Amino acid sequence: MTDQAQTAPAAKKLFIKTYGCQMNVYDSQRMAEAMGAEGYVLTEDQAQADMVLLNTCHIREKAAEKLYSDLGRLRSLKVAKPDMKIGVAGCVAQAEGAEITRRMPQVDLVVGPQSYHRLPAMARGEGPSIDTDFPAEDKFDHLPERMATRRAPAAFLTVQEGCDKFCAFCVVPYTRGAEVSRPVDRILSEARNLVARGVRELTLLGQNVNGWHGVGPDGREWGFGRLIRAIAEIDGLDRIRYTTSHPNDMADDLIAAHGDVPQLMPYLHLPVQSGSDRILKAMNRKHTAEQYLRLIDRIRAARPDILMTSDFIVGFPGETDQDHAATLRLVEQVGFGTAFSFKYSPRPGTTAYDRPEVEAAVADARLHELQALLGRQQQAVQQDMVGRTLGVLFEKPGRETGQMIGKSDYLHPVFVDAPQAQPGDLVQVRIVESRSNSLRGELLT
Ligand code: 5AD
Ligand code: SF4
Repeated sequence: MTDQAQTAPAAKKLFIKTYGCQMNVYDSQRMAEAMGAEGYVLTEDQAQADMVLLNTCHIREKAAEKLYSDLGRLRSLKVAKPDMKIGVAGCVAQAEGAEITRRMPQVDLVVGPQSYHRLPAMARGEGPSIDTDFPAEDKFDHLPERMATRRAPAAFLTVQEGCDKFCAFCVVPYTRGAEVSRPVDRILSEARNLVARGVRELTLLGQNVNGWHGVGPDGREWGFGRLIRAIAEIDGLDRIRYTTSHPNDMADDLIAAHGDVPQLMPYLHLPVQSGSDRILKAMNRKHTAEQYLRLIDRIRAARPDILMTSDFIVGFPGETDQDHAATLRLVEQVGFGTAFSFKYSPRPGTTAYDRPEVEAAVADARLHELQALLGRQQQAVQQDMVGRTLGVLFEKPGRETGQMIGKSDYLHPVFVDAPQAQPGDLVQVRIVESRSNSLRGELLT
């Protein structure tokens, strides 16, 4: 060790816990980069941290409750280490603001998802300790360039944020704000930068990602399909995915891109929430079950092997047994690769909040039934992969010696015995076994 290293002040340590969706994962990376410029390095050990940042989720009541139980546990750590700063970021910060510091005085900073570029200044003690503005400036213009915080071959890239759809159950339009599309040049430069650092797969993120639009370098108005085509031209980028989409924003050009952009992976998460027209209307989804089914026909006509996934809410206020049966029917008709299903959780501020709730036991039984059906479909789809040869992008070593874990084209985790391989290798693998939530494959030599 050199003298300099011995006398240099130890870097401050930052521990980040991320709850919720992939955009929070992305935001946590950007916050880590911003704090990195302030001399903070990431630690995995909360007890060692000079700052603990909780990047929160407000989508369902349980998600928000987790924050308060974690903050309760952090109280004793702060007593032992009074200089440690505690920050709350993300959607609970946005929704609850000063209520958080009122309930939990040990919290030093509260920062919403649109103002986290101000986090470094807040941490220095400059400016307010609570910032839940929707500032006029674009946070991305005030954040450091993407850095390789982790050398991972797959990365997220936010292209759009916020939502104007106002589904009756959803807090996102309030916590993330109105729909904003990032400009084409910024997206392309961030994408090129990531690819130059070894990224081979990009997942484009947005609460309503397929509602993205912007003006291209040709001066024309671009839709999301056109953006994907431009990103696909980046040399060295092998795979493109995107999430999350609204059925009403699946434009013709985007559907066509699934047929003619080879880098666009055959996987689409397209939440439908319910199969009952009555409930879809009450949810303000602005489409029918039939329209969703016809849309999937068109997507499958463009890309026949596409694996469809979705989100469902059971027990939405007013949901009857017939409505639930209609949801099961829709699931049978589509055949999903996997899907997320949730029991309705009333969220303050949303239009459905005050509506009479379905009895908890009934909602539980419906959730159970739906999940059983979705589970059977998932197993059938995975079983169908056995014997097929698929592309797999290795992401990290597995637990067993010589094993690698990667994702297939269809986003299934695949375990492969590949002692010579490195993360970032994109290989051809023959699937030999389906396990509960993953596949096992053999390297084709
Ligand atoms: N209750 C239950 N599930 C919800 N979701 C969003 N809001 C609620 C709520 N209040 C689900 C939807 C959405 C997914 C991200 O979370 O299915 O698509
Ligand atoms: Fe929430 Fe999605 Fe509906 Fe927007 S479209 S309100 S994010 S469920």
